[in-house]
Amino acid sequence: MKKRDFLKLALFGIKTIIFKEKKPILGTIILTDYCNLHCKHCAVNNISKVMNPYENIVEEMNNFYNKGIRILFFCGGETLLWEHSGKNIRDLIKKAREIGFYIVNIVTNGTIDLDIKEADVIFLSIDGDRQAHNSIRGDTFDTIMNNVSKANNSNICIYMAINKLNYKTIPEVCSLAKENPNINSISFNFHTPYEGTEYLSLTSDEKRETIHTIKNMMKEDTPIFNLPCALDEYLKNNWERPCCQCIVSENNKRYICGRCVEIEGLCNECGYLFAVEFSMLFDGNVKAIFQMLKTYLKYV
Ligand SMILES: C[S@@+](CC[C@H](N)C(=O)[O-])C[C@H]1O[C@@H](n2cnc3c(N)ncnc32)[C@H](O)[C@@H]1O
Ligand code: SF4
Ligand code: SF4
Repeated sequence: MKKRDFLKLALFGIKTIIFKEKKPILGTIILTDYCNLHCKHCAVNNISKVMNPYENIVEEMNNFYNKGIRILFFCGGETLLWEHSGKNIRDLIKKAREIGFYIVNIVTNGTIDLDIKEADVIFLSIDGDRQAHNSIRGDTFDTIMNNVSKANNSNICIYMAINKLNYKTIPEVCSLAKENPNINSISFNFHTPYEGTEYLSLTSDEKRETIHTIKNMMKEDTPIFNLPCALDEYLKNNWERPCCQCIVSENNKRYICGRCVEIEGLCNECGYLFAVEFSMLFDGNVKAIFQMLKTYLKYV
């Protein structure tokens, strides 16, 4: 990110805090909900089975930009399955840059070519060590690691959704992030219990133990993208939500914070740490602001 853009984001933050504004800064566009996997914890794959047309996505990017959004995520379904009118993800990222977004990231399951230098950060879902990951995501771990080794960039951040099946394997996943030259960092979320996946949630004691593990990993210089103070706040579970600074758009429908916002009661059990972090940041939490500056300057 350019220094000038970073300063503009900082200004946005200051204005939001002082004037208690509720304007969005982070937008996510769901390109398609087609997916080649059926992960145990996921509730958003292969429902409408629509490939969002290129023209619609570009129109939504422009709408987002005009609303003041400057950080853009492309997500899915499987994000990298998206293609339309001969265009692929690289064309979308290039277009997003032309429009003027400061940061353009993608989220992917990593089963398809990961050599996408155009993205600022590729959030790559790895859900545990080989055994735990495969038990959640099917037999994909080796394919993903092979794709990581073929990527020529170090813009990959592991994205792990922590649940009952994988929480004991966090140190192994941290080692992957530390030792693989193509992996830049690691970011955690906790399981959000969509209907039918409640059995994957951790108990309060397990959450506490997990946060203790993550903090120990931070002390050992593991490149962890999360803010330490948000981990504590997540445990207390009294942060303000949904997060008004984030918008998700899928097939012309917009949601504040996440698609999950419409599921009654789910926000109370939210495990998405970005929502905790943004809530703290825009509430003017000094610790969160300081830790965010440090983390972004290091990894983005
Ligand atoms: C819905 S997927 C879409 C992108 C891509 N298919 C992937 O798996 O990375 C985006 C992220 O949401 C995470 N996710 C899915 N269901 C979740 C849940 N119930 N709780 C927390 N994270 C979840 C996935 O693990 C993944 O990292
Ligand atoms: S790969 Fe992503 S979208 Fe597909 S089922 Fe798994 S978490 Fe859901
Ligand atoms: S707080 Fe946001 S991310 Fe969390 S469940 Fe609610 S809408 Fe989804």
